[in-house]
Amino acid sequence: MSDPSKHANLSRPLPAIPGRGVVILGSGSAVPSGELTNDELADIVQTSDEWIFQRTGIRKRRICDHAKGESNLTLCTESLRGALAQSNLKASDLDLIICGTITQDFRCPSTACLVAANLGAGTAAAWDLGAACCGFVYSLNVAHDLIRIGTHRRIGVIGCDTISAITDYTNRGVCILFGDAAGAVVLSATDDTTKGCIAQVNKANGTGWHDLYMPTWIENIPENSDWNTVRIGCLQMNGKAVFKFAVSTFQELISETLAKADLPVEAIDMFVCHQSNARILEAAREKFGIPTEKLYVNIDRIGNSSAGSVPLCFDELNKAGKIKPGMKVLFLAFGAGVTWTSSLWQF
Ligand code: UT7
Repeated sequence: MSDPSKHANLSRPLPAIPGRGVVILGSGSAVPSGELTNDELADIVQTSDEWIFQRTGIRKRRICDHAKGESNLTLCTESLRGALAQSNLKASDLDLIICGTITQDFRCPSTACLVAANLGAGTAAAWDLGAACCGFVYSLNVAHDLIRIGTHRRIGVIGCDTISAITDYTNRGVCILFGDAAGAVVLSATDDTTKGCIAQVNKANGTGWHDLYMPTWIENIPENSDWNTVRIGCLQMNGKAVFKFAVSTFQELISETLAKADLPVEAIDMFVCHQSNARILEAAREKFGIPTEKLYVNIDRIGNSSAGSVPLCFDELNKAGKIKPGMKVLFLAFGAGVTWTSSLWQF
């Protein structure tokens, strides 16, 4: 066995590979045609528009209409098609497609393989990354680093969840929160070494798994659960516990990322955050004194779309002309696992 003290200090960030930066060439997104308003939910479970809006900031969420052929796969395909179009690239120009999702249409093969086939990506590598709400930002960091180290040149990164497929619409503690959406970006190598991710944090604590999980078998269900509400194949959430975790973790995540980049909060031009609950975003905004125009919010009309929320926000900002060269953009997410992650980019 080798002596670990003789090896490099692993807590130090890796130096950037000279001669290679990373840019986001284009973005795309897709939301399903169906809308489910708070008033419509109040016809299904005991709740009200006022309760939901006060606790979450949500007025309505988007839901796949399977009769119209909408699904996780169609949203993923459409969003990457849009990102490729904005990048002026064909799918066959990609070396790799990564899809952050936990709600695949097929358990096997991966959604990324099916998207590659739908778009004609030839023999580009393709895999899914399962990290719930962190799926897109984790994938973005992996894709960035693969380009930075030189093994890949162009990567399509998708974030998509269709949580409606695993939602029990009799469980009011869960069904009010989630909706369906997808977003995607195309990353490319560039000679400009100043561009790319300048700091990232990727963390998880699996001991908190039971606060947000989907049981496949009855044996997955923890003993102290409320057996009246647990359904196999449906998302289970201890909302209060997740809320507590999310408020503190989100704020620590911002501080840790800024410390890694050695930047003050004022240096960040745009915060592109997982849309979990408007109150969680507002708590962070107030704590750091972030102006409202720098922290994008669309949860009121989209709901919490898990891995789809960060890339959808980014695409909406990008389409509105609010992402400009020279900006510093901070992507942030947290969710089931529990997981939390950030990616700070120099555009
Ligand atoms: O993206 C993944 C990460 N997930 C999150 O970030 C979710 C974090 N958690 C939350 O957003 C909040 O916990 C919820 C919005 C889900 C729930 O809000 P809360 O303020 O934590 O409510 P609660 O679960 O503590 O319930 C408070 C009361 C309870 O009634 P009693 O026991 O006080 O009589 C619930 O039964 O509100 C009741 N309640 C509802 N009432 C009306 C729970 N859900 C509803 C509802 N409508 N939909």
